Amino acid sequence: MPRAIAVLGGTGPEGFGLALRWVRAGETVIIGSRDAGRAREAAAKILAAVGGSATVSGEENVAACAATDLLVLTIPFEGHCGLLKQIRPAIRPGSIVIDTTVPLAASVGGRVTRTLGIWEGSAAQQAAELVPQGVSVVAAFHNTSADILNGDAPVDCDVIVCSDDAAAAQTVRTLASKIPGVRAIDGGKLENARILEQITALLIGLNIRHKGHSGIRITGLPEKAYAVS
Ligand SMILES: NC(=O)c1ccc[n+]([C@@H]2O[C@H](COP(=O)([O-])OP(=O)(O)OC[C@H]3O[C@@H](n4cnc5c(N)ncnc54)[C@H](OP(=O)(O)O)[C@@H]3O)[C@@H](O)[C@H]2O)c1
Repeated sequence: MPRAIAVLGGTGPEGFGLALRWVRAGETVIIGSRDAGRAREAAAKILAAVGGSATVSGEENVAACAATDLLVLTIPFEGHCGLLKQIRPAIRPGSIVIDTTVPLAASVGGRVTRTLGIWEGSAAQQAAELVPQGVSVVAAFHNTSADILNGDAPVDCDVIVCSDDAAAAQTVRTLASKIPGVRAIDGGKLENARILEQITALLIGLNIRHKGHSGIRITGLPEKAYAVS
């Protein structure tokens, strides 16, 4: 049985776009939402878009979390702590939690081009303190534009993956590289998530200034840095 991916907050543009790309790549996806009906509607949209043998369903967030051990958080920072506390009892031992959250100042009424200072260092490190022991947090996909993910073209963006669990990071790099155009790069320890999160605020500023959907490419590394295994 393939490992399903639960995309919590997958009704929003970032989670929906990731889910769409993974379903297209043949992965099994469960869309999570605070509302099971909304999750099922999003799953139906992906099914209609991908067709064929697409395997996608929708559940309320806690049920989606309980159904698998590969979770993706795609919710705004204002819901980050609350959702993690809510799903905590349902997180299976040994799970991987992929955190895409950018703690934008907009979460507290500030600018979308600034990030908040987080006591733990980053949203992903905050997540690591909120999940049960033995659950690995991996930071990734912060710099991948939802607008591009929701299109059909290859995604012109590298995904830098940071975690204190090397095996979990490898799993996530494999998952990232299933998205056409994406090169997944080992970005080191989870503490580097702080930088990934801040780059997004810069990208949002560039998008506003130049009216586009910017991403990042890392150049100058040996070929093996871009290889998945
Ligand atoms: N948009 C991008 O281009 C982009 C790019 C890179 C990273 N990100 C990051 O990815 C995350 C999701 O981005 P997004 O643009 O998809 O966000 P969003 O549209 O604001 O929210 C995504 C989903 O999260 C759920 N949600 C909203 N408020 C919540 C709360 N207080 N508690 C729990 N769930 C809540 C909603 O789903 P339900 O109402 O169905 O529960 C919503 O559809 C953010 O942290 C963002 O910084 C976004």
